[in-house]
Amino acid sequence: MIKEFLKIQRKKKSMKKDIAIIILAAGKSTRMNSDTPKVLHQLCGRPMIGYVLDLAKSLKAKKTVAVLGYKQELVRKSIPAYVKIAAQKKLIGTANAVEAGLKQLKGFSGTVLVLYGDNPLLKKPSIDKLLDYHILNNVDATLLSAQLDKPAGYGRIKRDKLFSVCQIVEENQADEVEKDLKEVNTGIVAFKADSLKRCLKLIRPNNPKKEYYLTDIINIFYKSGLLVDAIKLADINEGMGVNSRLELSQANRIMQKRINDDLMKQGVTLIDPGSTFINFGTKIGSDTVIYPFTVIERDVKIGKRCSLGPFAHLRAGVKIDNDVVAGNFIEMARSRIGAGSFVKHFSYIGDSWLGKAVNIGAGTVTANFDGLNKHNTTIKDHTCIGSHTVIVAPVKIGRQAITGAGSVVINDIPDKATAVGMPARIIKKKR
Ligand code: UD1
Ligand code: CA
Repeated sequence: MIKEFLKIQRKKKSMKKDIAIIILAAGKSTRMNSDTPKVLHQLCGRPMIGYVLDLAKSLKAKKTVAVLGYKQELVRKSIPAYVKIAAQKKLIGTANAVEAGLKQLKGFSGTVLVLYGDNPLLKKPSIDKLLDYHILNNVDATLLSAQLDKPAGYGRIKRDKLFSVCQIVEENQADEVEKDLKEVNTGIVAFKADSLKRCLKLIRPNNPKKEYYLTDIINIFYKSGLLVDAIKLADINEGMGVNSRLELSQANRIMQKRINDDLMKQGVTLIDPGSTFINFGTKIGSDTVIYPFTVIERDVKIGKRCSLGPFAHLRAGVKIDNDVVAGNFIEMARSRIGAGSFVKHFSYIGDSWLGKAVNIGAGTVTANFDGLNKHNTTIKDHTCIGSHTVIVAPVKIGRQAITGAGSVVINDIPDKATAVGMPARIIKKKR
C-alpha cells in the first residue's frame, strides 16, 4: 500500500517536470472599454497578469510562453525575462493564440497547460490537482470547470449520456437549453502536447465572431476518440474571468479579502477589513492596528506595533519603522518614518526622511513640489514640529529642534534650535 503510494508520488513528480505553460494575453480590452490592454488592468495595485505569472512560476514548468498581441510593447514590461514571448499577429481567437504559443514549444511532447491572462484568482493547489489528475489518468485534455448558479458569459460544458465531457458551447452559440447548463469552462486546460498540436489545425471559425475558438477542440477530441475530462473547482471564485469593469471590481474585492485575511493571520489587527484597502506586496509587522478607511499602496513597509488611520493614505514606497502612529487624515508619499514617531492629525509628508521619536503637530505639510521638481525634507530624531508648520523643501531640521505653531520653514534649522514665524527665524539656539 505504502509502496504503491510512493510510486504514484514519484510518477507525479517526474511527469510534472514535463510541463509547459502557455499564457494567453493578446486580447484587447473591448468589454473594458479601455485603451489599456485588459491584462494590465490592476487588482490591488498590480496588473492582473502579475498574479497569473506568479502562479505559472510556482508550477516550475520547463518552459513558459506568454502570447501577446494588443499593445504588446506595454504588456512586455510586466513579463519577466524567463518567460518566452510569442506574438499573435491577428487577434482571431484563443485557438490561434495557442498556435502562436506552440511555435515556442517546438519538440515539446509533455503536458501543455493553457492559462488565461484575465483569470487572476486561480490558486496553485487547484492547478496541482488538475495536473495530477491529467497525468495520472493519462487524459488527452483535462478542463478545469466550475459549477455556477449564474453561468452567463462563460462557455458551457456539455456531457454525453454517459456523463463524459463532449463539447464546450460558447455563450453566443448556445441555445436556451445549453444556456441553462451550469457547469462552465474556466479556460484552464491541461493538454497532451501531441494531441493538442494535431487537433488545433482542425478548428474552423464557425461562430458569429468568425474567431478560432480553442474551446472547439474539445468536441474534436471527443469525436476522434481522445480522452477528455473535467475536474471542478472547489472555490468557484478562483475560476472567475475578468472581462468588464464590473468583474474587475468583483475580482478586486476577492483579492483584497485574501490580502487582508493573510495580514490578520500574520498578527495585524484590521478593525474593519471591508473598508481597509491594502495593495499586493505590502509588509506589515505584528500587533500593528489599522483603523477603517485606510488605503495602503504597493511596496509599503510598516513595522510592528504601529497604529494607522482612520482615513490614512500611505502611498507607494513609504517605509514606517516600529511603534509609529500615523493617525487621522494623513497622506504620506515616498517617505521614511523613524521608530516611535507620531504623525497623528491632518498631515502631508512627502519625499521626507523622519528620524526617531519625531512629533509632527496637527496640520503639518511638507511642501515638496515647486511646480517643476520634487525636493526632500529631513527631520532628525526627537524633533518637535508645531501644529500647522509648512516645511518648504529642500530643508533639513536638526535633532531636538522645535518649530512654533504656524511656522513656514524655508531654511535649515540646526540641532536643538527653536524657530518660529513666517518665514521661520531662529529665536533660541539651544534648549
Ligand atoms: C473564454 C472561453 C470561455 C470561458 C472563458 C473563461 C474561448 C473561446 N472561450 O471566453 O469558454 O468560459 O474564457 O473566462 O476561449 N486571447 C488571445 N488572443 C485572442 C483572443 C483572446 O490571446 O485572439 C486571450 C485574451 O487576452 C484572454 C483570453 O485569451 O486573456 C480569453 O479571451 P476572452 O476573449 O476573454 O475569452 P472569453 O470570452 O472570456
Ligand atoms: Ca475572458
